[in-house]
Amino acid sequence: MCGIVGILGLEPVAERLVEALKRLEYRGYDSAGVATLEDGGIVRRRAEGKLKNLDARLRAEPLGGTIGIGHTRWATHGAPTERNAHPHATEKVAVVHNGIIENFRDLRRELEAAGHVFLTETDTEIVAHLVTDEMNKGKAPVEAVAAALPRLRGAFALAFLFAGEPDLMIGARRGSPLAIGYGDGEMYVGSDALALAPFTSRITYLEDGDWAIITHRGAEIRDAAGHKVARAQITSSASSFLVDKGNHRHFMAKEIHEQPEVVGHTLAHYLDMANDRVRLPALPFDIASLKHVAMSACGTAFYAGLIGKYWMERFARVPVEIDIASEFRYREAPLAPGGLAVFVSQSGETADTLASLRYAAQHGQHVLGIVNVPTSTIARESHAIMPTLAGPEIGVASTKAFTCQLGVLACLAVAVGRARGTLSEADEQRLVGALVAAPGLMAEALKLEPKIEVLARTLAKDKDVLYLGRGTSYPLALEGALKLKEISYIHAEGYAAGELKHGPIALIDETMPVIVIAPHDRVFEKTASNMQEVAARGGRIILFTDARGAEEAGVKTEATFVLPDMPATITPFAYAVLVQLLAYHTAVVMGTDVDQPRNLAKSVTVE
Ligand code: AGP
Repeated sequence: MCGIVGILGLEPVAERLVEALKRLEYRGYDSAGVATLEDGGIVRRRAEGKLKNLDARLRAEPLGGTIGIGHTRWATHGAPTERNAHPHATEKVAVVHNGIIENFRDLRRELEAAGHVFLTETDTEIVAHLVTDEMNKGKAPVEAVAAALPRLRGAFALAFLFAGEPDLMIGARRGSPLAIGYGDGEMYVGSDALALAPFTSRITYLEDGDWAIITHRGAEIRDAAGHKVARAQITSSASSFLVDKGNHRHFMAKEIHEQPEVVGHTLAHYLDMANDRVRLPALPFDIASLKHVAMSACGTAFYAGLIGKYWMERFARVPVEIDIASEFRYREAPLAPGGLAVFVSQSGETADTLASLRYAAQHGQHVLGIVNVPTSTIARESHAIMPTLAGPEIGVASTKAFTCQLGVLACLAVAVGRARGTLSEADEQRLVGALVAAPGLMAEALKLEPKIEVLARTLAKDKDVLYLGRGTSYPLALEGALKLKEISYIHAEGYAAGELKHGPIALIDETMPVIVIAPHDRVFEKTASNMQEVAARGGRIILFTDARGAEEAGVKTEATFVLPDMPATITPFAYAVLVQLLAYHTAVVMGTDVDQPRNLAKSVTVE
């Protein structure tokens, strides 16, 4: 993910901006830049590659100014070149951005029609022009930003600088985090407390939809509706070695909320978002000649793999055999040499998964690791890896790693489909366009959190919970049940909805809550019939669906959560957020140790 930093200072800022950016290098990037005001005018220095190149540029061409913004860029729209590096600017406005502006093409067309000339392929540049356009209509900077923000769709964080305004910086947050730092006469913004640690430990994390008007005197924070709001000022314990919880009560909560950002970052690693194409790293095997895929993982990673199986078989028409690793390692699966074996693991250290990997490698398979720790044992023993870029996942219950695994598996399935000719270029562009929207839809799912909290207070009183789903919602039902049981200690089971009549329906009575994950897709009517069967026996239905599903459910529910309509490929990303939030808030009500549940370890390195 990209890194943002800004300093509204009392002395020159260029070097301090670069120092702050160095604390964000862990996020990964391919170019960097800073902008300051010199004699009221916006001046920039940018460089491709690592920060040392930017340092060299600044030594050769020093930058004055006591107010500035800086950025480390992970290319999403547009190649990782100096021209595409942030900050992007017009004469009047400079901006740095972390995330994805989904509707940038429409806005770009509108602004070009209004005479704006674009110099880059980036989505960020349209933000500078959009605010400038509002200022050209006579608005002051604050009003121009207030008018521009609601026009943007997607998950992002932004920081703005304005020509002739040495005492004004504006920060905005929607989906990607942004923190404000309070100094002695100076003010700061940054993607996280790590970036600001050199300047201050007095931090305020903006909440989703917030934006902040920052001057030397302090920050005025407004919500998405423009109303002034107060946000807690905390003392950050961040250092370059300590990941902190931000303004969340638990790491798990923080990691659930980080998903729009880190899923966007993971997708950006594998997609050419400007052209809606997949861009896989070079692999030591020919994906066009794949005949068979064996997949193996444990727990949540296994459920991600199960969803990946549906996608690989649907898009690439390649048969996928998937096993829980503790079974795969002993069942002596016959594997035709030259097949692909995929191992999904957040930690990259899970003993059963590693043993399965070694079995596959000994039987002539190409071994691909999908891991969150590129230095892990599974990564090192794989022939190739496709990393998830979730960042450190501290909570024992896996959340952001799961949805990042989905992102990698979706990109792999589309790439294999294209290579094998089972997907046309138009199919690829349609699917990639849908994936680009996933982070924004996950941010929409997060907005249902207050309603989830209400449900959690009821669910915490229950002893058993049943989760049902069909298609890719079936592995989500399994994952939702695992999340609930492992952190709240309430017994829960996930089932394929079509299996209800084959036994589990015996469990249904008025005491049994049934969580039904059912976007209105091609199997919705079948699941609606299952809901009728549950209702007929007095079962308590909690429905996760969309508007059409809510309208056509045909049963009275205890609660219905309505997500935006979205392509079927994206539903696992957004609906996962709901099952994660439900488990989290139920556990909070139960008072369990959410981040370190009893009996569990973050990485099961023994059998
Ligand atoms: C996830 O919430 C669980 N903590 C657990 O099932 C985990 O997914 C499993 O142990 C696999 O771990 P890995 O992804 O690090 O291999």
